[in-house]
Amino acid sequence: MNDRRDLDLVLRSGVPLIIVETTDEGRFLELLCDVSDHQPPTDYRPLFRWSITDGMQRLDIALEKQIAEAEPQQVLRQIRASTKPAIYALLDFHPYLSDPYNVRLLKDIAIDARRNGTVVVLISHGLELPNELRNYSAQFQLALPSPEERRSIIENLLEEYRTERPGSRGPADPKAVELLVQNLSGLTYTDTLRLARNAVFDDGAITADDVPAVMQAKYELLNKDGILSYEYELVGLSDIAGFRNVKVWLRQRRAAFSGEPLAGLDNPKGILLLGVQGCGKSLAARAAASVLGVPLLRLEFGALYNKYHGETEKNLRESLAMAETMSPCVLWLDEIEKGLASGNDETGTSRRVIASLLTWMSERTSQVLIVATANDIDSLPPELIRKGRFDEIFFVDLPSATARGKILEIHMRDRGLDPRQMDVPKLAHYTAGFSGAEIEQGIVAALYAAYALRKPPESKHILAEFRKTKPLSVIMAERIDSLRAWAAPRTVPADGEHLSGCLEA
Ligand SMILES: Nc1ncnc2c1ncn2[C@@H]1O[C@H](COP(=O)(O)OP(=O)(O)OP(=O)(O)O)[C@@H](O)[C@H]1O
Ligand SMILES: [Mg+2]
Repeated sequence: MNDRRDLDLVLRSGVPLIIVETTDEGRFLELLCDVSDHQPPTDYRPLFRWSITDGMQRLDIALEKQIAEAEPQQVLRQIRASTKPAIYALLDFHPYLSDPYNVRLLKDIAIDARRNGTVVVLISHGLELPNELRNYSAQFQLALPSPEERRSIIENLLEEYRTERPGSRGPADPKAVELLVQNLSGLTYTDTLRLARNAVFDDGAITADDVPAVMQAKYELLNKDGILSYEYELVGLSDIAGFRNVKVWLRQRRAAFSGEPLAGLDNPKGILLLGVQGCGKSLAARAAASVLGVPLLRLEFGALYNKYHGETEKNLRESLAMAETMSPCVLWLDEIEKGLASGNDETGTSRRVIASLLTWMSERTSQVLIVATANDIDSLPPELIRKGRFDEIFFVDLPSATARGKILEIHMRDRGLDPRQMDVPKLAHYTAGFSGAEIEQGIVAALYAAYALRKPPESKHILAEFRKTKPLSVIMAERIDSLRAWAAPRTVPADGEHLSGCLEA
C-alpha cells in the first residue's frame, strides 16, 4: 500500500483542496498525522482538525484541549485570515457546502493558497464538490488492504489472542485462513480488522465455520442500500429431486470455488435454467451456492427497473460490482425475462441492460457464478442465449416418474409423514404432468383435509387432492409443447442421462 507516499505527494503538489471520501476516517487521520510527522523541518506545516462538535484542534502535537471555533463559517474565515502555512482536516464538512457563502470562502482560501501554503482536506463518507471548487481540488483515496496485508491482519490477531490467553493454542486451519483472506477483499482497513477480529476472538481459531459469518457481515456492511439480497436459506442437493445433470455440473465445479487454482481453466461463468414453472429452478439456484460452499446473492431483475426508476443501468452496475466484491459467490438472477422484456421498451433501457450484462459476463475474471432462471423464452433476447454466453443452458421439464417419487418423499418427510407408510409409486404414477410445486401443494392440502377429518394423513387423502388438481401440463399444454420444441436442439436437459452418465458422485 502506497497510501503514505501518495498522500505526501498530493499534500506537496500545491493543490489547495483535497477531497477524501472514506468510511475509514480514523485510519485516514492516522495516515495524515504520520505523513505530517515526516515532513522535513524546513517546510513543516502544522496540522489541524476540525469538526462541528469539537471545533478546531491541533492534531500534530498534543496540546491542552482549547476552546475552539466550531461554526463552519467562522472556521473558514479563521483559515482564510491565517497567513501561516498549515494543513486543515475538516471532518464531515459536506452539509455546509450547500451554503454559497461557505463555497466562496473555500474558493478564496484556495486562491490564496499558492501564496501562503494552506491545504484544506475535506473528509466525509461521501461528498459532492460544487463546480466552483472543482478546479482547485484533487481526490485522495485510501487503498484497500492487499491480500498480504489482510493475511498479516489475521495473523497478528491470532498472535494477539494467544498472547492474551497463554496456553490457548487455537488451531488456524491454513485453508480457512486463505479463504478468509480472499473473502475479506473489498473492505476498508478498519472493517477488515473488525470482521477478522470477530472471527478470531470468538474462539481463538480460524476454521471453515468462520467464513459464512464473515461473508454475511461483509454483505451487511457493503450493501446498505443496494438491491442485491443475501439469501440465507440454502438447500442441499438431496432436497431436490431430479436435476441430475445440473447436480453433476455443479459438483464438477466445486473445486474451482474452494480456492484451489485450476491449471488451464477459466472460472466458470454460469448457467441458465430455463423451463416450466414450479419445477425447482429457484430451488436449484439455492442448491448451487450450498454445493459450492459460497454465499448466494439474489438479484431480482424486476426490481432493477421498478425500484429506482430511471437508474436501471446504474443499479445493475452497482449490483455486479457488489457481487464481485463478494466473490467467490453465486449471483442468482431470478426470472431474468421479467427485467429483459425486449419488445415493449421504447427507451432502449432493456437493450442497454442486456449489453452491460453481457459485457460484464464476458470480461470478468472473478469467481462469480451466475445462475439465471427463466420461464419464458419468447421475451428473452436472443443475444443472451447465444452459445458461449452461459457455460450451459439447462432445460427444466416437468418431473419424470422417478423424480416425482422423490419429490413426494422429500415433501412427505418435510411435513413429518413417513413415505414408507404411503403408496408412493401409485402417487408418482398418478401425478404424471404435475409440477413439483403442484405435488407439494397436494401434500399440504391433504394434511389440512386429514386434520379436518381428525384422521391420520394417508395416501388416499393425497390422491384425493391430486384428483382435484388440474395440472400445469393440461392448463398450459401448448406453451409447454412449444417450450420443449424450442429447447430440444438448444439446451441440455436438467434431469437425464446426458452428463450424469459420465459421473455420478
Ligand atoms: N425437483 C424438485 N424437488 C423438490 N421440490 C421441488 C422440485 N420442484 C419443485 N419443488 C417444490 O416446488 C416449490 C417451487 O419450486 P421453485 O420455486 O424452485 O420452482 P421454479 O421452477 O423456480 O418456479 P417459478 O418458475 O414459478 O419460479 C419448491 O419450493 C419445492 O418445494
Ligand atoms: Mg422460481
